[in-house]
Amino acid sequence: MARLRTGVLISGRGSNLQALIDACTARDYPAEIVLVIANRADAAGLDRAARAKIPTRVVAHRGFTERAAFDAALDAALREARVELVCLAGFMRVLGANFIDAWRDRMINIHPSLLPEFPGLDTHARALAAGAKRHGCTVHFVRNEVDNGPIIVQGSVPVLPDDDADKLAARVLAVEHRAYPLALRLVADGRVRVRGDSVEIDGRPGPVRLDAVA
Ligand code: GAR
Repeated sequence: MARLRTGVLISGRGSNLQALIDACTARDYPAEIVLVIANRADAAGLDRAARAKIPTRVVAHRGFTERAAFDAALDAALREARVELVCLAGFMRVLGANFIDAWRDRMINIHPSLLPEFPGLDTHARALAAGAKRHGCTVHFVRNEVDNGPIIVQGSVPVLPDDDADKLAARVLAVEHRAYPLALRLVADGRVRVRGDSVEIDGRPGPVRLDAVA
């Protein structure tokens, strides 16, 4: 079985990367991570990749004066590794339109909210402030508008009365670690088709929903 050659872009801790690495250890998992790229040399996720013997690259955004050159360096590294699908996993740089177009329907992202609610930053504090009853994460194909694009999987958790942003973030992170490997599996298995602004999974309207009870 040929596994889908996957590149993961990170900026920090890399716990979602770890969830993907762990998923890829299963014999029947349809993807393999062939490259991890960080835009910061101190991204802790680089150590996770190294421990799993996955090749790593640092493409430091600080080393480029123009975004297009940074994007081109990322693109070159991904192509050199013959990457077929890109996973953004806590990658905190905005990518340019040319890069996004070049990887259209071949690049997915995880975002810590139930999109279209709370795009952008500080999603957990904003969900609390808005009095949300449920909150969660979204795995979606990347489009030019930030935190937008056809949604593959959403994982939701309850918001509890004594939550603060950290407690809620931890509950969401646990469901992220289930949602991202599931989304990558579905895409790598060829079960996901983009239809306009949404997806079909096994021919039925997506997304897949994981609704945790606690
Ligand atoms: C995750 O919560 C992810 O959803 C979020 O950053 C965190 C990265 O954690 N991504 C974004 O906010 C993207 N805009 P990790 O490095 O431990 O996977």
